Order: sequence, then structure tokens, then C-alpha cells
Amino acid sequence: MLRNTLVVLLAVFTVTAKCELDTNIVPSMVGGSVSLEGQAPSVVSIRVPRQAPNAPETFCQGTIINLNHILTSCQCVHNETNNLINPAWFRIIAGDLNIVVPSYRRFSTTASHIYTHPGYTISPRTNDIAVMRTTTSFPAGHNTIDWAPRNTHVLRNGLPCVFFGWGAATVTGVLNPVQQSIPAPILERNDCNAANVHRGLVIDNMICAGSLAATPNVCTGNLGGGLFCPARNTFELTGILSFGLGCGTANIPGVYTQVRFFEQWINQQLTRTDATPAGTLVAS
Ligand SMILES: *[C@@H]1O[C@H](CO)[C@@H](O)[C@H](O)[C@H]1NC(C)=O
Repeated sequence: MLRNTLVVLLAVFTVTAKCELDTNIVPSMVGGSVSLEGQAPSVVSIRVPRQAPNAPETFCQGTIINLNHILTSCQCVHNETNNLINPAWFRIIAGDLNIVVPSYRRFSTTASHIYTHPGYTISPRTNDIAVMRTTTSFPAGHNTIDWAPRNTHVLRNGLPCVFFGWGAATVTGVLNPVQQSIPAPILERNDCNAANVHRGLVIDNMICAGSLAATPNVCTGNLGGGLFCPARNTFELTGILSFGLGCGTANIPGVYTQVRFFEQWINQQLTRTDATPAGTLVAS
């Protein structure tokens, strides 16, 4: 679970940081802040090493939901021709803030099973959710690795949610090796569906968060990552990044698969024993 002592670092780049312990404050800052050790212990990096010299490298994120499962987006687990990528090819990295330079905290594993939502569509992007079972269980009682509780309630607009990740902060930016946190308050659905924003693509089982302004926000490499929202004494996994990679551009806020609409489906996947063969067409 996200530590309830979530500290929001109000730092612009490397300028002196100010510690803010009131999690109800929406940080009005430009740019992300470097995450603290153990601040988001359920956040993992998921990547598929290149299978051919010129093949694209899949780089995504996921969220630990129990000892051996993570949630991610469906688009993170299929290749360009919509075939399920072999689970064994995935590299799942937990416990480390810097994904380039491993620390002793790093826990790496791969996947044994991947279950994609049967209703997943690519255009428009809907039901973008997948459950990945790891080959090795995550360590229990670890300071920087833990599972996230999931939100099951309707949340108010403006709630100061947070996104954690390694994506670039600008269109041209290279992937940031150190995990950042980005404030992502919940946006009014109508604003998000406006003609100059997401044009009605944000349906009920999705949630929009971030900013309509040109501030650094989610970008390449963040897909599948979790939107975490404050709950009583913790932060809960509320969304899975599906589209809206603004990379600092105005009017492209992040759109997330809203996990509370998929509770039943998620729980059903956790006990499945059948395997979806690699190569299975997951969407048309
Ligand atoms: C996607 O995977 C399928 C089945 O494994 C394979 O035949 C196809 O060539 C792959 N497509 C790309 C673009 O890599």
C-alpha cells in the first residue's frame, strides 16, 4: 500500500524541496518530483526487450495488486499486430526508483500468465485492462515493494490523485531513469470530453485526471501505470493509464481505465489456471 505518510515534494527540478505533509493540498507545480523510497511501493516497470534489432521496445508500467499479480493496460501486452506477447519475455521490476542503475532493493521477475479483458477495443480504446501473474511472488514485508488496495467508490472532481512513473516529461524527452510523481487531480468528465480535448472518448468506466494546461504530465512509457487517489488512511489504485499522453501539451489529460468498474473481472482472473497462448489475437 502507498504509505499514508505520503510526502509531496514541492520541488521544481533541483531547487530546494519543501516538505508538505497535508495530502489534501493539490500541488500547483510545474514538473514532477522525484519519488521517495517506499512512497509508491506497488509501482512496477514492465518492459519487453527487443526481439529484433529494429523492433520497438515495449516500455510500460503496472501496479502490484497481490503477491503474484499486477494490473496493467491491455495495449502493453500485445504487439503491433495485436497478438499477445509471450509472458516469459516481460521483465517486471519492483522496489527500485532508478530503473537503469539497480540497487539492492530491486526485485525482478517475469510473467507466467497474462489475461486480457475480452471487451478490449483499440479504436476507440476501451476496457484497456490486463492482469499479469508473475513467475515469482513479490517479497512480503518489504519496505519498497507492496500491493495497492483498489478504489471502489465514486470520487469527487478535483481530488488530488497522483501518478508515479518513469516516462518522459516532454515529447522529446528521454525516459527518466528515476521515478517521478506527478499531481493528477480528477478532472470533470465533461471538460475532459470537450471537443478540443478527448471528444467524448471518456466513457463511464474511464476517469480523466491531470491538467488541461500545458504542464508536464503523463507521456511515453507511462502506459499501464496506476493513478493513486487519497482514501481514508492510504492511497488507492483508481485508474490504469490508457490514453491521453500529453507529454506537456495542453488539452491532452491522461485517461485511465477506472478499476472499480472491473473489480469482478479482476478477481476472476486471479484464480484462473488456464493459459492464454502467446500470439493469441487480443483485439481486432
Ligand atoms: C506479433 O506476434 C505474432 C505472434 O507471435 C507474430 O506472428 C507477429 O509477427 C508479431 N508482430 C510483430 C509486428 O512483431
